[in-house]
Amino acid sequence: MSEPRQILVTSALPYANGSIHLGHMLEYIQTDMWVRFQKMRGNQCIYVCADDAHGSAIMLRAEKEGITPEQLIANVQAEHSGDFADFLVDFDNFHSTHCEENRELSAWVYTRLKNAGHIATRSVTQYFDPEKGMFLADRFIKGTCPKCAADDQYGDNCEKCGATYAPTELKNPKSAISGATPELRDSQHFFFKLPDFQSMLEQWTRSGTLQDAVANKLSEWLDAGLQEWDISRDAPYFGFEIPGEPGKFFYVWLDAPIGYMASFKNLCARRPELDFDAFWGADSTAELYHFIGKDIVNFHALFWPAMLEGAGLRKPTAVNVHGYLTVNGAKMSKSRGTFIKARTYLDHLAPEYLRYYYAAKLGRGVDDLDLNLEDFVQKVNSDLVGKVVNIASRCAGFIHKGNDGMLVAGDAAPALTEAFANATASITEAYEHRDFARAMREIMALADRANAWIAEQAPWALAKQEGKQAEVQAICAQGINLFRQLVIFLKPVLPLLAADAEAFLNVPPLRWNDLGSRLENHQLNVFKPLMSRIEPTKVEAMVAASQEDLAAANAEAATGNGELKKDPLAAQIEFDTFDAVDLRVALIVKAEAVEGADKLLRLTLDIGDEQRNVFSGIKSAYPDPSQLEGRLTMMVANLKPRKMRFGVSEGMVMAAGPGGTEIYLLSPDSGAKPGQRIK
Ligand code: 2FM
Ligand code: ZN
Repeated sequence: MSEPRQILVTSALPYANGSIHLGHMLEYIQTDMWVRFQKMRGNQCIYVCADDAHGSAIMLRAEKEGITPEQLIANVQAEHSGDFADFLVDFDNFHSTHCEENRELSAWVYTRLKNAGHIATRSVTQYFDPEKGMFLADRFIKGTCPKCAADDQYGDNCEKCGATYAPTELKNPKSAISGATPELRDSQHFFFKLPDFQSMLEQWTRSGTLQDAVANKLSEWLDAGLQEWDISRDAPYFGFEIPGEPGKFFYVWLDAPIGYMASFKNLCARRPELDFDAFWGADSTAELYHFIGKDIVNFHALFWPAMLEGAGLRKPTAVNVHGYLTVNGAKMSKSRGTFIKARTYLDHLAPEYLRYYYAAKLGRGVDDLDLNLEDFVQKVNSDLVGKVVNIASRCAGFIHKGNDGMLVAGDAAPALTEAFANATASITEAYEHRDFARAMREIMALADRANAWIAEQAPWALAKQEGKQAEVQAICAQGINLFRQLVIFLKPVLPLLAADAEAFLNVPPLRWNDLGSRLENHQLNVFKPLMSRIEPTKVEAMVAASQEDLAAANAEAATGNGELKKDPLAAQIEFDTFDAVDLRVALIVKAEAVEGADKLLRLTLDIGDEQRNVFSGIKSAYPDPSQLEGRLTMMVANLKPRKMRFGVSEGMVMAAGPGGTEIYLLSPDSGAKPGQRIK
């Protein structure tokens, strides 16, 4: 047996200002499966991650919520950790970039780069918000597109015509934070001299560290010539101050990847067998892998290796890039209910269903992966419940009934045993190369063969015949041994199923080299059902709940709990904008609960010349919806209709209050007539 490998693995650090959704989970599940495989093989494999806690977005969000950034990131970290744990993503450490280790390491890396001559400084002219007292990143500037004159476009590109431009080209620029007209101001910025690393990067990106498609994309950038990278931001900024440069902070993307090192360093303090320098020193023989999505390749495959090299550290062994997640063939969409948060999924479905589905569809490439919800139900039910678990449930009963749960010795199907043994090398290789889809295909092909063999032997028929008990036991013992092999193969993907199977098989945690042995003259424990089928109604409920999240967000915005309260100036509107809203008196003709939706009511509204169907997230305040019937309220009648799972919502009723049971539907004075316009 060769020496165990030392492997350090990371997934991209999620921003600490939003919830984890199923798109994020693709990466964490992919990485976790690979790490679990390496651990089962007996390698020393360490998986670290952290929340990406810095930047102006986090600073502004905390301000909006009326809490400190530290409170915000602590809350989000608790939420993220819970989501990951419940999806069985088993980090060795989940830290935060806002920590002492990262402050020290970032300062250290920067100082090394500076001392080696890789840092430049020069003045940069940028828009500054005079009310807010801060420089504005492009996405915080809005104005009229210089090309097509579309209003309300961001500072770097137009969503209408697709043009890209400098924020200074935008007509009538406004700060998206305060609404003030920004001024141009100069300030000193710090740059990382990426061009110093051009030839190193040309060589490194072509040395087997990247998938071909990624390396090809990077060649385009490398051919165009690298630019110096602006790594500083002016105060106020939530991040680390640059050593010796008061009022200047590291840009979030400078200290984010150093957060990988910081999380590992934090772990080293708890795990004395881990030596930080052995993993990060220039002559490290450990392997280092970053799993990321294709949107952040430049940071990981250009800036990061250059920073590491410049600081005299080792470079990644490989950067493993995956594509985006689509749901039902399209980008995740809030209105379709396919923008699914990790927690919403977990409220309805078991984590291993999704882990298996992702595994079954994840190859080595950078193609997008589609979560087709119908196929998801069908595939999980047919493969896991119908094929894998089925083998154990078909055999266990006969062994308990006929032989007190004792597995007899002997190989009743040597050809099958050999087929399983022969597949091992290929399945192992598929896992090693992250070709989970191929691994799953080969494992399911083995499961098909095992099921076919058991069906052919029909132990249930033999059990009814006199004198066939020994044969029944031999067949079922073989079945259980094949099942055990499948469980080992699937354990990186399905750790809970494996743990339950280990309890039934009465064995210590299974490892990869257990594939080479079988259970004989071995006592089993009682068999309990290992996995149940996915009920399609659960998937429907998850989609409905994802749409409800949106309804709740709309209700919140409508009741003034959003931006309006915190920043009244930014929310001032012109009279014309107000006048464009068609507010009407509406008579609630019918109010009813919506099947499969916890928070929604379906309202039939009479607005004089027509009736409207409106879904509203107010059920918690009106548990008996019929009490609303016959009452007048106010509605926005010219809101674009929105397609929901339950039907089309044609407008919005108006309510006040913080939510929950405290929602107050607005009503006009008595005497108002349905359809009258509110002015
Ligand atoms: O794109 C993102 O979500 C970033 N927060 C990823 C950071 S990965 C690493 F470099 F820290
Ligand atoms: Zn435009």
